[in-house]
Amino acid sequence: MNEVERGLVQKIHATVTRRLAGQGAGHGMDHVLRVLNTARQIQSEVGGELFIVELAALLHDVGDAKFHDGIEMSATYTKEILEDLGVSHEVIDAVVTIVDNISYRKGIDADLLSLEGKIVQDADRIDALGAIGIVRTIEFGATRGQPFHVVSPTDAAPNEKVSVSDLALQKTGVGHFYDKLFKLRKLLNTEPAKQIALQRERFMQSFLDQYFLESSQPLAPTIAND
Ligand code: ADP
Ligand code: NI
Repeated sequence: MNEVERGLVQKIHATVTRRLAGQGAGHGMDHVLRVLNTARQIQSEVGGELFIVELAALLHDVGDAKFHDGIEMSATYTKEILEDLGVSHEVIDAVVTIVDNISYRKGIDADLLSLEGKIVQDADRIDALGAIGIVRTIEFGATRGQPFHVVSPTDAAPNEKVSVSDLALQKTGVGHFYDKLFKLRKLLNTEPAKQIALQRERFMQSFLDQYFLESSQPLAPTIAND
């Protein structure tokens, strides 16, 4: 990255910080900066253009639907912000395409993403895992009145494992682990991201084991680490 590009990254960092001010922890600037760091780490191992990676990581949630009446504005805002700073059309196209296509909801075929897009998508998904992932899941539930866990009538007797599919159906934090979070690693694009995800998954599994143990619940089912 040259000096001009570094200066632009700093300006965009400041713009995004201003725009996301006041947005809930877990999905504000703290999330963006973790995604930026993880994306840099992945890029250092797999390559790709660092300038594009950093811009896309910084801008990927700048118009998050949760804060814009359910309408995802990130790609539109990204274009405006980059145009205002006089960034080249080539770079704008590359970054807007990434921001527009990496979300889990879009479920776009990863083959269609650029290498830089694959990196930022992986970094965003990784932020739903590990200790941070646990905190974000609990915070999400708290804002919606969703409990972290309930004992369902179909739960097995104490010390027997409940099934993954039973838990995944529950509208709870624990349900979310099995419905989505433990499935993310297989959707990742890059090897370094898969390694980070595996370590974080193990931590989440051990958290769940301890949680179920302390709650005198049937043991948490184990996900195969293949
Ligand atoms: P992103 O936009 O970063 O891909 P989301 O906005 O979908 O992620 O979710 C933000 C955080 O809330 C993530 O950590 C996600 O795992 C968590 N979350 C999303 N849906 C649920 C849910 N139904 N129950 C608990 N946590 C959830
Ligand atoms: Ni995100």
